[in-house]
Amino acid sequence: MSSRKIIIDTDPGQDDAVAILLALASPELEVLGLTAVAGNVPLELTARNARIICELAGRADLPVYAGCDRPIKRDLFTAEKVHGKSGLDGIELPVPAMALQDQHAVDFIIETLRREPPGTVTLCPLGPLTNIATALTQAPDIAERIDQVVLMGGAYFEVGNSTPTAEFNIYVDPDAAKIVFGAGLDLTVLPLDVTHKALTSPERNAAFAAIGTPVGKAVAAWTGFFERFDKEKYGSPGAPLHDPCVIAYLLRHDLFSGRRVNVEIETESALTLGMTVADWWGVTDRPPNALFIGDLNAQGYYDLLTERLARL
Ligand code: RIB
Ligand code: CA
Repeated sequence: MSSRKIIIDTDPGQDDAVAILLALASPELEVLGLTAVAGNVPLELTARNARIICELAGRADLPVYAGCDRPIKRDLFTAEKVHGKSGLDGIELPVPAMALQDQHAVDFIIETLRREPPGTVTLCPLGPLTNIATALTQAPDIAERIDQVVLMGGAYFEVGNSTPTAEFNIYVDPDAAKIVFGAGLDLTVLPLDVTHKALTSPERNAAFAAIGTPVGKAVAAWTGFFERFDKEKYGSPGAPLHDPCVIAYLLRHDLFSGRRVNVEIETESALTLGMTVADWWGVTDRPPNALFIGDLNAQGYYDLLTERLARL
């Protein structure tokens, strides 16, 4: 069976790190490159963190590209309060020895999609959609060459985590999200509606630690740090491990369920900026443009994560 080619666009972030490790541990997937974007922390740190993760996985050969350092129109809004100053707080890892690629991430995305046969590359955005939207704007021809876009972002029944109505990845760059959701792509969205059902727990974190490898130790440390913010905020027993849901969906979409609906992005209202307005009950005549995932088998997700991470 040939591997599915993917590009992971990312703003590491502890949960991004687990998603990237899951992808690198899975032979069903061929990661063509990591494209860093400003989000959880500024671009210089997300580009550095992406390389830290590659080296932790023994993949210093994997090309990492730096992309956009700020949203298309707005100022950058970051999330150090969740991820720590470095973006990967929780464990000290070596400064990366591998270099960044010289090519800009947007140019890499465009060049790769124009080179690879149409319909063979899936884009996996795990942060704000600035790189993806910029690529679509600079090279509209790539839209029809993309197989699928499977992204973490948005919220509807679960409401927002950055404002009362907006999830972080969409809120940081709503204008980019509007471009991506309006590009006629084969789009699958993993919003807070599903990621908030994928909570860490002492048992699940212990299973990561029990892997007994540097990867297992790092993942347990990252989830232990990352979860503190949401546990306090929501008073929940654990925190949502958002981004690995994207990769897990590619590997085992049977673990997930959702509905094809219309999803529009609010880019005007100051009150609801960045809201993903999902027409879940089909009350408008707006055509469906996304598979909006609402549920998962949480234990199956964590079992997959633990089994795969043990392979690195
Ligand atoms: O709202 C959660 C998302 O924002 C995740 O991708 C997390 O890494 C942050 O980027
Ligand atoms: Ca992220």
